[in-house]
Amino acid sequence: MKMSPSLSVLLAVVASMAGIGGINCGLLDMFNTNSDYHLAASMDAVFGALRNDIGNFLEGNIKNPVEKEVTFWCGNRNSTQLKQTFVNDTDLDSKLDLSKPLTFIIHGWLDNSTRIWVKTMAQDMMKYADTNVCGVNWSRLARHNYYQVAMNHTLIVSSYLTKFVEYLRSAGIDLEHITFVGHSMGAQISGQAGKNLNGKIGKIYGLDPAGPCFTFPRDRGLQYRLDSSDAKFVQMIVTSRFMIGVGAGDGHENFYPNGGYSPQTNCAIPVTSDAEFADQIMCSHLHSTTLFRLALNPAIVYRARRCVNWPLYLLTFCNTNEANVIGVYSKQKAGHFYLRTSAFTPFTALFPTN
Ligand SMILES: *[C@@H]1O[C@H](CO)[C@@H](O)[C@H](O)[C@H]1NC(C)=O
Ligand SMILES: *[C@@H]1O[C@H](CO)[C@@H](O)[C@H](O)[C@H]1NC(C)=O
Ligand SMILES: *[C@@H]1O[C@H](CO)[C@@H](O)[C@H](O)[C@H]1NC(C)=O
Ligand SMILES: *[C@@H]1O[C@H](CO)[C@@H](O)[C@H](O)[C@H]1NC(C)=O
Ligand SMILES: *[C@@H]1O[C@H](CO)[C@@H](O)[C@H](O)[C@H]1NC(C)=O
Repeated sequence: MKMSPSLSVLLAVVASMAGIGGINCGLLDMFNTNSDYHLAASMDAVFGALRNDIGNFLEGNIKNPVEKEVTFWCGNRNSTQLKQTFVNDTDLDSKLDLSKPLTFIIHGWLDNSTRIWVKTMAQDMMKYADTNVCGVNWSRLARHNYYQVAMNHTLIVSSYLTKFVEYLRSAGIDLEHITFVGHSMGAQISGQAGKNLNGKIGKIYGLDPAGPCFTFPRDRGLQYRLDSSDAKFVQMIVTSRFMIGVGAGDGHENFYPNGGYSPQTNCAIPVTSDAEFADQIMCSHLHSTTLFRLALNPAIVYRARRCVNWPLYLLTFCNTNEANVIGVYSKQKAGHFYLRTSAFTPFTALFPTN
């Protein structure tokens, strides 16, 4: 998909109007409660211009029952073709093995579960781990304006996801064996569902969690966005901070490839982009999914160092600090970890300094 280069320019303008001020304020601070509306409107204006690529935004309230709008597609090594799975499924045993762990993959705004990144991630998960996988498809609810999706539809999805998980728990799976992997608004949905389940889910991986409209207590607050209280362990991989992603990670363990900023190294040069979107910010935003997926392969290691911030990392002050790796093989240590990635797949550093 080709995206107009104006997205980067427009978002940068919006960002500068909102004023990237106190960078040390923890979570995204650039969109204050008044400017969230402007930002959501700008996101809509920019993405609305791409209607030929994504189809029209849908309008009005959704009238279908939730089970038609939020669907679960599950499988495992014995059944790698993902099959639709229901609450009170009469054929659950052919789709899931509840003696094994289960990972959900949850897409974000304007996205859907047939996108390549979701499909390859599901296949790689089954390849590298003996686990069940369920893709969550909420594509029609995701194709509305940003504000409506952020404010209303994520709650619909997270509450139905909660219900599905509660059903699976009644069928015999332990909450500790459940993992959510959510990208962008899918990360915020993971946080909401995790909270509904009282933080008893095993793990949540938040891949560049969506920032706009999820940041400020007055608008949304902790109850609506992912943070470390939503699961026993929460890892975030931040790749477009202060743009589409949050300004800073709020998990137990937070990774910042290339400082967490757009453009990610590979996204600065279009020919090395790994994304289905050519735009630098979208490419960077999606790069979190690529790094997480590639790191499922134990041979691909993204080594990071505990550090206070990106400038100190660049000045090599953190080269002897504790090391940690992105993804499912991380040490699960609390803190902030920085690293550089290369422009070429598999994006591991060419000349690692540490
Ligand atoms: C699923 O089964 C439970 C227990 O039998 C029942 O209470 C619930 O209404 C059922 N839900 C659906 C969606 O069929
Ligand atoms: C696959 O099937 C085998 C044999 O029936 C069983 O032992 C194994 O647990 C199954 N694995 C999964 C992930 O369902
Ligand atoms: C899913 O996304 C792809 C890529 O944007 C698009 O081509 C496809 O039509 C979408 N499918 C649905 C069901 O929305
Ligand atoms: C996803 O859901 C939409 C409706 O919300 C449906 O049109 C589409 O076929 C579904 N695709 C998959 C793979 O579930
Ligand atoms: C959210 O849902 C409420 C209740 O259905 C509705 O009144 C409100 O307009 C919706 N907000 C948006 C932004 O769609």
